Amino acid sequence: MDSLAAACRASFLLLVLGACGGGRADPRPVVTISGSAVGDEGAILRRQMDRFMELHPAVRVELRQTPDDASQRHQLYVQWLVARAEDPDVLQLDVVWTPEFAAAGWLSPLDRFAPEAAAFFPATIEANRWDGSLYAMPWFVDVGLLYRRTDLVPEAPVSLEMLPALARAAMAGAGAPGGPPPPAAGWVWQGARYEGLVTVYLEILTAHGGRIMDDSGRVVVDDPPGVDALTFMRDAIRRGVSPREVLTWHEEETRFAFQNGDAVFMRNWPYAAALLADSVRSQVAGRVGVSTIPAARGSGGRPASALGGAQLAINAHSDVPDLAWLLVSFLTAPEQMLERAEAVGQLPPRPALYDDARLAAALPLGVRVAREAVASAVPRPVTPLWSELSERLQIALHSALAGQVEPGPALHTAAADMNALLERSGLRYGMNAP
Ligand code: GLC
Repeated sequence: MDSLAAACRASFLLLVLGACGGGRADPRPVVTISGSAVGDEGAILRRQMDRFMELHPAVRVELRQTPDDASQRHQLYVQWLVARAEDPDVLQLDVVWTPEFAAAGWLSPLDRFAPEAAAFFPATIEANRWDGSLYAMPWFVDVGLLYRRTDLVPEAPVSLEMLPALARAAMAGAGAPGGPPPPAAGWVWQGARYEGLVTVYLEILTAHGGRIMDDSGRVVVDDPPGVDALTFMRDAIRRGVSPREVLTWHEEETRFAFQNGDAVFMRNWPYAAALLADSVRSQVAGRVGVSTIPAARGSGGRPASALGGAQLAINAHSDVPDLAWLLVSFLTAPEQMLERAEAVGQLPPRPALYDDARLAAALPLGVRVAREAVASAVPRPVTPLWSELSERLQIALHSALAGQVEPGPALHTAAADMNALLERSGLRYGMNAP
């Protein structure tokens, strides 16, 4: 009797759900979008999707949420796209994926929609061109930043060597009288084996005067600056400046540690700033300063931010490409970019917005510093092979950080593998190189 009642209840519920807008009852065409939800990104995207639907009541937009881990997100996309799935119609692509996806035939060229490419930073447009066509619209720019506790370290370090020294001094300090004990961690960063680790390494590498590839397109991470950079990171763990846990941490674990008052320095993207400033969620509100990773002394290196960010592209198999474009142009319009900057601190790829007072109020970095950071940020190599190259580098970096292999031999193996891969593919150059 009970199970009969339960079955009746379930069929009634299905009927009601069907009538209240479940798939078939809602005749509107659906545009799906994949998006990340790191920090408050999910909330701002939903707000903008709702506004889009108010403007276009004949269209329904649905969000397909994807993993926070950039490499896992990449894997999921590859599964969808290899299977020629029609959904998601609009794809949020990491700044380093467009060449790979465009070359694979997974994206629709956007030229027929006459996109206003001239309104964006040229570098962000170039990163989205493949074989003469534009395949994605820049959405937001990320730059890697060094956050610090200003109550413990009032001035940003001016050399890389100062970073562990200042961290150690703050960890050994007494803390404020009557206040919480000093943080247990000195410097936290994204050390899990995924794309984020490569961006952290790229900053330390640039600070040591090194590069991932030289001008001829040869991988040179095993040159002395590359080995010094990885040794610096490995030693931070070995000497207790960075907790061993960083080897499993992504952006969010890192932010939680810093936000709870457990770390002196943190490497992260701009999205963290607004969350850290929110005194309801953050223990360190009002005590956070931001700068870039400083250069290593005498190395010929320079202060460095890795260039990150996202763009929006249209799935080549989308059955509603025109509606997908309507959504892409809405989300990449100035108003939505300003709102995103205000809500999650992500930098707009439209230079004209840097003169807008709303942006000045929204960015904890200040507009001038933000613009300079974007202009001088270090990109990862632009090539359709990036994901495969990065994976090899991630393995080497992670095994050396975990103490399984010395940095030199680890990088040597990675560089040899990466060069062999480039050689086999015949694609030694990035897509924009001569
Ligand atoms: C951020 C950046 C992206 C980078 C990723 C690594 O999402 O915008 O470019 O690849 O972090 O975790």
